[in-house]
Amino acid sequence: MKLLLLNGPNLNLLGTREPDIYGRETLDDIIQAVVNQFSDHCVIEHFQSNSEGALVDRIHQAKLDGCAGIVINPAAYTHTSVALRDAISSVDLPTVEVHLSNIHSREEFRQHSFIAPVAVGQISGFGSLGYGLAVQALLNHLQRA
Ligand code: DQA
Repeated sequence: MKLLLLNGPNLNLLGTREPDIYGRETLDDIIQAVVNQFSDHCVIEHFQSNSEGALVDRIHQAKLDGCAGIVINPAAYTHTSVALRDAISSVDLPTVEVHLSNIHSREEFRQHSFIAPVAVGQISGFGSLGYGLAVQALLNHLQRA
């Protein structure tokens, strides 16, 4: 089974970007850990982009490639992007939303997610651990479907 792990804008800077909020691990560290953790259960493809359109295109491609589901940290696009939300509902692939920080305890503008209504669920506030939890939740959802 193949899953897509998508990361949005500025997450390429993890490790040095506001470490008190987002931690000191790099995106590569996080991806390697999650790929290793689930290597017996699924293949995880990864894509990061700072561009909304590239993320939309990659979601479309996931459907064509036969991915079973998506884990996405949409980063700032969480709070702005109808296009990402529509892409997820268009491909109709089960999607789990993940955030390193707890978006509900931060600034008001971060507390609304355009993605949440089209996601199976959201994991927010557990740092890099959340990525593993998100994959686990997606696999569990796919097994029950
Ligand atoms: C984030 C939270 C967003 O509000 C922010 O814009 C990010 C990262 C998180 O993982 O905590 O870039 O998605």
